[in-house]
Amino acid sequence: MVQEIPMVEFKDVTKFYLKSNQPAVEHISFKISKGEFCCLIGTSGSGKTTLMRMINRMNSVTKGKVLVNGQDVKTMNAVNLRRHIGYVIQNNGLMPHMTIRENIVLVPKLLKWPKEKLAGKAKELIDLVELPESYLNRYPNELSGGQQQRIGVVRALAADQNLILMDEPFGALDPITRESLQKLVQNLQRRLGKTIVFVTHDMDEALRLATKIVVLHDGKLIQVGTPEEILHHPANKFVKDLIGEERLSEAKYETVKVKNVMTAPVKINLGASLTDALTLMKEKHVDTLLVVDDDNHLKGYLSIADLQRKYPLVSTVSDILRTVSTTVGPDEYLRDNFSRILSRNGQYVPVVDANEKLIGILTRSSLVNVVYEKIWGDKNTLKNQSAKKAN
Ligand SMILES: Nc1ncnc2c1ncn2[C@@H]1O[C@H](COP(=O)(O)OP(=O)(O)O)[C@@H](O)[C@H]1O
Ligand SMILES: [Mg+2]
Repeated sequence: MVQEIPMVEFKDVTKFYLKSNQPAVEHISFKISKGEFCCLIGTSGSGKTTLMRMINRMNSVTKGKVLVNGQDVKTMNAVNLRRHIGYVIQNNGLMPHMTIRENIVLVPKLLKWPKEKLAGKAKELIDLVELPESYLNRYPNELSGGQQQRIGVVRALAADQNLILMDEPFGALDPITRESLQKLVQNLQRRLGKTIVFVTHDMDEALRLATKIVVLHDGKLIQVGTPEEILHHPANKFVKDLIGEERLSEAKYETVKVKNVMTAPVKINLGASLTDALTLMKEKHVDTLLVVDDDNHLKGYLSIADLQRKYPLVSTVSDILRTVSTTVGPDEYLRDNFSRILSRNGQYVPVVDANEKLIGILTRSSLVNVVYEKIWGDKNTLKNQSAKKAN
């Protein structure tokens, strides 16, 4: 099999800053594939910026190698390398004395693009971030913080860079602007197939945006994985803390499937008599029965009200059968079915497999346990809560 060359690869990278006898990062190895959205996350001082700036040689590598497109960055021309890698920083880095147009085409101009191509690019990019073309003639301070950062983001795309580095780009923005910029960046990345390396200390942001998360602590690599892997299998307490209690219990709940909480159905065969049905209802304390054929295919349900009305006019269950309007599959997520079940008048939803065979029921009371755990966590938390209340 031909191995695709990663967009970026860290090979046992260690960095000492001048006059420092502590490494800023040490023995870091991981790969970033083309088209990936890679978030570097860790607390302040964990080495995120150091690592990122080694990709475009704004920082040198002390030991080990950083490869971009399979080539050791040490062997490349640093200025040229930097111009071909987009770079977005927190306070947008726009030149205050240049118009938005001049800011956007700064790098393409340095790359000596022809004039018409420059003009076209400025228009294309301002459209891309949904700002009016007239803004091209404004100066940065005539735009809001969020608008400036939009320009900061597209400027990093101006020279058709395939690799873009972003260092806490939205840290200084209010939550709403931040969210709209996150969406913008995610959209651009998916639509244009860019590779993004994104530094953040915010796990929410990383989980929302990343296809790969790299967790750093004290200059060491703690864990690399997809958001799901990080969330469901945090490598240690540090990663757990970074995710936070709330998200962890949320994640536990997020992955509960129907089959994990379904209970045994009370069922009866199509050909059974109404007397059998009534006896079974009494015995199991239920007011409806699910009806199946000889192969356990779900055929409908039978209610005590219908039974009472028709008894003894008809003799078998199949005569007063009603169709079931909703079923769920065992591998569906509970979270996707919550409102469906709670909003239904009935007390439960039958669970059927791919062949329409009845394998369980999802009752309202099985949801209660899940909601309970989600809200209270484990039993100890509940004990603590009630102890607090009692005091
Ligand atoms: N220019 C520098 N000179 C000396 N030490 C530095 C320099 N930049 C960062 N460091 C040190 O390297 C470590 C990692 O810093 P940094 O990469 O900026 O972390 P982060 O971006 O995760 O907050 C810290 O201990 C920091 O003090
Ligand atoms: Mg930093």
